[in-house]
Amino acid sequence: MSQSKVLPAALADRIERLIAAMTPEEKAGQLSQFFVFERGSEPVDEEIAAGRAGAILFVRDPSEITRLQRIAVEESRLGIPLIFALDVIHGLRTIFPVPIAMAASWDPAAVEAAQAVAAAEARATGLHWTFAPMVDVARDPRWGRMIEGAGEDPYLGGIMAAAQVRGFQGDDLSSADRMVAGPKHLAGYGAALGGRDYDEADLSESELRNVYLPPFKAAIDAGAANIMCAYMTLNGVPATGNHWLITEILKEEWGFSGFTVSDANSAHDLAKHNFARDGADAAVRALNAGLDMEMALEAHDSVFNTLPQALAAGLIEPARLDDAVRRVLTVKAQLGLFDAPYAEPDAAVRVLDEPAHRDAARRAAERSFVLLRNEGQVLPLDPRALRKVAVIGPLADSARDTIGPWVFDHDNAETVTVLAGIRDHLAGTAEVEHVTGVSIEQRLNPSFFDDIPGFDIAPLVSVDDDAGIAAAVAAAKDSDVALLVLGEAQNMIGEAASRSSLDLPGRQQELLEAVIATGTPTVLLMMAARPLDLKGASPAAVLQIWYPGTQGGTAVANAVFGKIVPGGKLPFTWVRSIGQVPLHYARMVTHKPKEREMRYWNEDGTPLFPFGFGLSYTTFAYSDLVIGADPIGLVDDLAIAVTVTNTGSVAGDEVVQLYIHQRHGSAARPVRELKGFERVTLAPGESRVVRFVLSAERRRYWSSAARGWVADATTFDVFVGGDSVASLAGTFTVAPKD
Ligand code: GLC
Repeated sequence: MSQSKVLPAALADRIERLIAAMTPEEKAGQLSQFFVFERGSEPVDEEIAAGRAGAILFVRDPSEITRLQRIAVEESRLGIPLIFALDVIHGLRTIFPVPIAMAASWDPAAVEAAQAVAAAEARATGLHWTFAPMVDVARDPRWGRMIEGAGEDPYLGGIMAAAQVRGFQGDDLSSADRMVAGPKHLAGYGAALGGRDYDEADLSESELRNVYLPPFKAAIDAGAANIMCAYMTLNGVPATGNHWLITEILKEEWGFSGFTVSDANSAHDLAKHNFARDGADAAVRALNAGLDMEMALEAHDSVFNTLPQALAAGLIEPARLDDAVRRVLTVKAQLGLFDAPYAEPDAAVRVLDEPAHRDAARRAAERSFVLLRNEGQVLPLDPRALRKVAVIGPLADSARDTIGPWVFDHDNAETVTVLAGIRDHLAGTAEVEHVTGVSIEQRLNPSFFDDIPGFDIAPLVSVDDDAGIAAAVAAAKDSDVALLVLGEAQNMIGEAASRSSLDLPGRQQELLEAVIATGTPTVLLMMAARPLDLKGASPAAVLQIWYPGTQGGTAVANAVFGKIVPGGKLPFTWVRSIGQVPLHYARMVTHKPKEREMRYWNEDGTPLFPFGFGLSYTTFAYSDLVIGADPIGLVDDLAIAVTVTNTGSVAGDEVVQLYIHQRHGSAARPVRELKGFERVTLAPGESRVVRFVLSAERRRYWSSAARGWVADATTFDVFVGGDSVASLAGTFTVAPKD
């Protein structure tokens, strides 16, 4: 849906008449959003009735949403409906795999379908707007919020951003199963210094233009009706008060006609950044930078309530204030709220329990798994050949951790843990022994989210680790295979969850090594979103299962026993150690490229697993790379084709990836850049010709030498294969037409 979709004249006229009738206080009210938690928040009824609130977030109970909406529509002077928002990041009642896992599917259609389910469940409860997708490129795994995005690459990130916007918004925001998408956090938040959440980001314009901004542009082009600004300072100017970002790039250069919102209290907090003098100055600086709506923690935190005084003092222009109000009212009109402000009663009951949603969540999880190691083809397991299986680890039976962070209306009782999935799959054929093994250590600094539903942590599991490890060893010795479910608890990753280590928390490493040492074939099922460091331990198989959601255990069992074949690929570089961070594949070449492998004298400089890597239960071969023309003109698109063959004995999925490398030009370009991919399913022996069109648009880049977008006359290398170190190569030259 294009968010610039023109409103029917009658609605547009109604908005203009409303704006003309609104007092400055009511205009400031429309631009104010408050948190209302189910427990503990100050009531906002009075604010709403007085026209001092335009949006609410975190109310999730359908009847409470309706009650607050009635106050706005029936008690306030102008009866303008509220817009209700929540972080519906990867599902509402049906929880899908976390976003980084969905990106690992490299399957935009599956991602779109997942967010369409999330939108249907959310809108049925009366919610209209989600603060998603998070489109921040993340190249530092110390930064916990990498879990919420699509990894390190701007092209993959852009494809996933657009797919999520389409899933949430569809073609008509007034539909009963769609909601406003709010891509976030504009911009550069993933480049936080040291991976420390909220720390400053300092990025050149070419890094911003070539890496961090493209996923936002893709989301806008897909029609996103809202954008959230980031907390941190970008090049010394807080993103929430950054005119260059919000007005010059987003609104003027890209033509964004939706509305922008601050992150929680980040307009108020401009004073904390030593940027604004006080709250009133913060409100002026934010509005004048292009911010349209303030997400305040609670009414008493609001700074936008000082806008009427700023208007009277001539510190803000009436036209800017009206523009912000118009943007908000237009999106409310696109949602159909002026004619139908209330959710259909009991729609939630019907929609949230839809079995088809659970199936979609299971399929999404199955497509997200990345097989990192499978020595001796230990996977898939054949249940008929098993007498006993040991399922070990503190995350094996943790429903709360299985669904990951940013979940609010989940039902832990419904979540299928890995243990439950394995038990269910082996019922009647093999014995399953579960051993927790070790406790999950707790964070040194309890997350300030811990008491907010959805960030609540799993019940503390504390066992005698020594005895637990001994019991795990005994169980493994007495089993045909040991399945270890290890990783990070869900509150160790996500917002305010940066970490200075990639080690397995607690004594999980010891547990892993002790079980491997028994000689029983060991399969590590990694419940994590960071590239955790296994310190050289080598279980026979490693399957990255992420935080797989409500149906996670069933999906994991289907993969472990071969009912489905893992086909996911890494959306980030898997470093050997934290000392290599940051390490991403699309880096520049140096004057000593051959020494790249040993850029540290003490450790191999290559990653443990490269970006785009993932194994299968079958194998694939590439041949016949065909470059459609050579040379081509500066503005010509180029057809590229390759043949991929399933050379194994079972059907499987392969993600065919296209990378380019520009050999010379106005600026140096990365050794490789992803510019196309397609996930294909091939039967044993089947070959498929996969075709790409490498557009001129995709070849251009922002040059800090030319200080603008350029497409050079140059020679490109082309690489096609199953990951970012693909060796099948070709070249083509771009020559200006004479
Ligand atoms: C949080 C996050 C943002 C989220 C918002 C509302 O602090 O930074 O991503 O959407 O507040 O929950």
